[in-house]
Amino acid sequence: MIEFRNGVAVVTGAASGIGLGIARAFAHEGMRLVVSDIEPEALAQATEALRSIGGEVLAECVDVSDADAVERLAQRAYEQFGRVTVLCNNAGVIENNLATWEYSLDDWNWVLGINLMGVVHGIRAFVPRMLASGDAGHVVNTASFGGLISGTANPIYIASKHAVVALSESLYNDLAARDATLSASVLCPGWVRTNIVDSDRNRDDAPILTEKLKHTRQRFQAGIDTGMEADEVGRLVVDAVRNKRFYIHTHPEWMDVVGDRFDAIVDGAHPASSRIPNPKK
Ligand SMILES: NC(=O)c1ccc[n+]([C@@H]2O[C@H](COP(=O)([O-])OP(=O)(O)OC[C@H]3O[C@@H](n4cnc5c(N)ncnc54)[C@H](O)[C@@H]3O)[C@@H](O)[C@H]2O)c1
Repeated sequence: MIEFRNGVAVVTGAASGIGLGIARAFAHEGMRLVVSDIEPEALAQATEALRSIGGEVLAECVDVSDADAVERLAQRAYEQFGRVTVLCNNAGVIENNLATWEYSLDDWNWVLGINLMGVVHGIRAFVPRMLASGDAGHVVNTASFGGLISGTANPIYIASKHAVVALSESLYNDLAARDATLSASVLCPGWVRTNIVDSDRNRDDAPILTEKLKHTRQRFQAGIDTGMEADEVGRLVVDAVRNKRFYIHTHPEWMDVVGDRFDAIVDGAHPASSRIPNPKK
């Protein structure tokens, strides 16, 4: 059984959106926090807000696509607190919406480097230390509802999130097979009101936005605007960790679309496409 009070939660991408919602939820459980993000000003503001909840907060500016930086984050977390109870590999970005063959290699490396390798770096840096402690603990990897369905847009993002779901399933099974004191979950959110549409605000070589790309971003923003509050996602994460639930869904009413994908696979048909869920408030 995980003891949240005085435990330590690490959250990447914690300066905004879902990461901040998760950090807030664990702070309200009486946990101490290690929050990290690539955006220093937003991280400083988030840290102040989190400290006002009451617990101790260590803030570190870290690019999760940099393995050495994530290793240093783990060292700092253990120096400061001596343990980590919950690790949330959450930082993520999304690319502009183009056809699969139209992206540059820089686009592929940017999204996969953060969304997939960021999770890999978190697992490699923290899980051996968490296992060695022998304490009860939990890893939460943020994937997406997009990691469960056939892609109809944003192919790099969708590929990265499918990979995070599969990687998390492997992690869960590896831990269970060893009777580890750790377990794992994968968070698969639908629309959540965050700053994700503006993901390339932290990208040095962000492509210039054409009118067409601006239009697709506006449509994406319209979906995001109908989404759930990030604090509600944070509460769902706390509940899933407490109850050791692996798949964390924010929009269970969308699950038919996941079923469509698996029906198509089982039937040997073409990928189920474009029945995009009707977002509900
Ligand atoms: N918002 C949604 O509807 C939605 C749906 C499904 C999944 N997600 C996932 O939720 C996670 C959080 O996204 P969000 O929606 O809160 O967006 P957001 O942009 O509000 O927050 C993402 C945070 O990650 C940080 N970040 C970006 N690149 C980083 C890097 N290289 N290293 C460290 N931090 C970095 C950003 O600065 C930002 O603070 C992502 O993995 C995203 O894919 C979001």
